[in-house]
Parts: sequence; C-alpha cells; structure tokens
Amino acid sequence: MTTVLTYGTFDLFHIGHLRLIERLAAMGDRLIVGVSTDEFNAGKGKKSVVSYDDRAAIVQAIKGVDLVLPERAWEQKRADIIEHEVDVFVMGDDWTGKFDELSDVCEVRYLPRTSGVSSTDIKEMLRTLDPVHIEEMQTALGTLTRLLEHYRDLT
Ligand code: CTP
Repeated sequence: MTTVLTYGTFDLFHIGHLRLIERLAAMGDRLIVGVSTDEFNAGKGKKSVVSYDDRAAIVQAIKGVDLVLPERAWEQKRADIIEHEVDVFVMGDDWTGKFDELSDVCEVRYLPRTSGVSSTDIKEMLRTLDPVHIEEMQTALGTLTRLLEHYRDLT
C-alpha cells in the first residue's frame, strides 16, 4: 500500500491541478491532498478567489483523491507524513529542492508543472475584465490617441 501526499492552494481549479492529481493518483494506492487554508495563505501575503471550504470540496471531489486535510502551517508536513504513514511526498517542480529535508521520513519527488496555466495567470486575465481596469485602459487609449493626433498635426 503506497500513500502519496501533496499540498497546494488549488485556487480557480484548472487543468494543471487536474493533471497533477491524476499523476499523483497513479503513483500510489492512496492520495492525500493538503489544501492551504485562507489563514495560511494570508500569512504568505496570498489571497485566493475561492474560499478554503470550496477549494477543499472541489479537490475532495476529484477522482483519485482519498483524503483532503487543511494545510495550516509550513511545519506540519513532517507530522502529517508520520501520522498518515506517507511513502511519497510530491510537489510540482516550482518547489524543487525545497522539501528535501523530509527525505529522512519518506521519498520526496517533484513533478514537472503543466505549462501555460496557473491560478495567478487566470486572476490576471480576470483583472483585465474589472470595470476600474477597463476605465484606466480607456483613459490611456484616449491619451495615446490625442498624442498621435498631436504628432500627426506636426508632420
Ligand atoms: N501545478 C502544476 N501545473 C500547473 C500549475 C500548478 O503541476 N500549471 C501544481 C503545482 O506545482 C502545485 C499544485 O499544482 O504542486 C498546486 O499549485 P498551486 O500553487 O495551487 O497552483 P498554481 O496555479 O501554481 O497557483 P499560483 O499561480 O497561485 O502559484
């Protein structure tokens, strides 16, 4: 029986998250996912669009996920590994090397990220639809148009 453990925020659940979970599920018999709480993210200066309860419910509903637990602190990983008898601890390769110190209690692996997608990118795309941002763009466009007209009149 091989138990696999990972952690993440999983905000605005996307294809990169799904592909990661599929690969993790295929690596063992039991998959545990630690989902970062809103308080833990706040401590890192991050704010998710989707609340912890909803992110945890979405991750729990994905095929292959056996257990979701809250990630409340950096230090809990070692205790979680021991408590849940984890064999393999896996993170995306944006974390390469960061958790090697856990290799005395289990195998530590890093998987390549799915390219071209991240929660940050999706948030940035949504921001361009924000009414305040659209107004800023319109003002900037107006200034640019006036400038171009000014230079055209000079030539
Ligand atoms: N992940 C992945 N491929 C992606 C995005 C994320 O494999 N394209 C993995 C990360 O490496 C991590 C897990 O999914 O192991 C959860 O990542 P998370 O930080 O919640 O997602 P990101 O989209 O990377 O979010 P952010 O942009 O806020 O960092």
